[in-house]
Amino acid sequence: MASKHITASVTEQNETMQRYYVLQSKIYDLTRWTFLFGRRAVIRQLPLDPGKAHRILEVGCGTGYNLRLLARRFPKAHLTGLDVSTHMIEKATKATKPFAQRVQLEERPYALGDTQYLEQFDAVLFSYSLTMINPQWEELIRQAKADLKPGGIIAVADFFDSRFRWFKTHMGNNHVRMDGHLLPLLEQEFTTLSHSVKPAYGGVWDYFVHLGRKV
Ligand SMILES: C[S@@+](CC[C@H](N)C(=O)[O-])C[C@H]1O[C@@H](n2cnc3c(N)ncnc32)[C@H](O)[C@@H]1O
Repeated sequence: MASKHITASVTEQNETMQRYYVLQSKIYDLTRWTFLFGRRAVIRQLPLDPGKAHRILEVGCGTGYNLRLLARRFPKAHLTGLDVSTHMIEKATKATKPFAQRVQLEERPYALGDTQYLEQFDAVLFSYSLTMINPQWEELIRQAKADLKPGGIIAVADFFDSRFRWFKTHMGNNHVRMDGHLLPLLEQEFTTLSHSVKPAYGGVWDYFVHLGRKV
């Protein structure tokens, strides 16, 4: 019974994302720089050697914005970008063309129990994807832990919380859960290397950047 429920909610979440990004993919890069703060910072703070051929996974890579930053910052790294939205993967394919030899894109949902990448990655990045992965965000944090090599890095930039109910409702209407719910589990599952919570637009909401290590 429980697994049927989980399967139904996974399917529902995936379909919601597919629908939402049909239109949003077209305006995504034009609009998101105005409110998805911390994306550059999380990549800048990744404690990996740019001279090494690290393997990095981005879950929910969207239009490929972060994959391009990662490709430039880590010129020898092999990058995997995974996204459930066909339209976002199309954008990412174009955006990462100059790095195509070391960027692999996969159009599929990230899911608990996937054994394809066990202990293969030096870092897993979630940038503004976890707050949209409801209710299975806990499962995906655990899957990322399984897919990291021992000592690997989890890097997360995302919305943290807001003191304004109207804003949380607005974000909820856009499939974002903003409840301060991610950090406690990240801190429980990984050894914290750094984290910061910062206000956006004078405190309408807070966003966070968290880096942790799998021990
Ligand atoms: C707000 S966008 C973030 C895109 C990019 N990471 C960024 O920082 O600009 C969230 C992305 O997560 C993807 N996504 C949502 N649920 C997913 C899932 N279960 N598996 C893989 N990707 C998912 C969406 O399709 C969307 O492209």
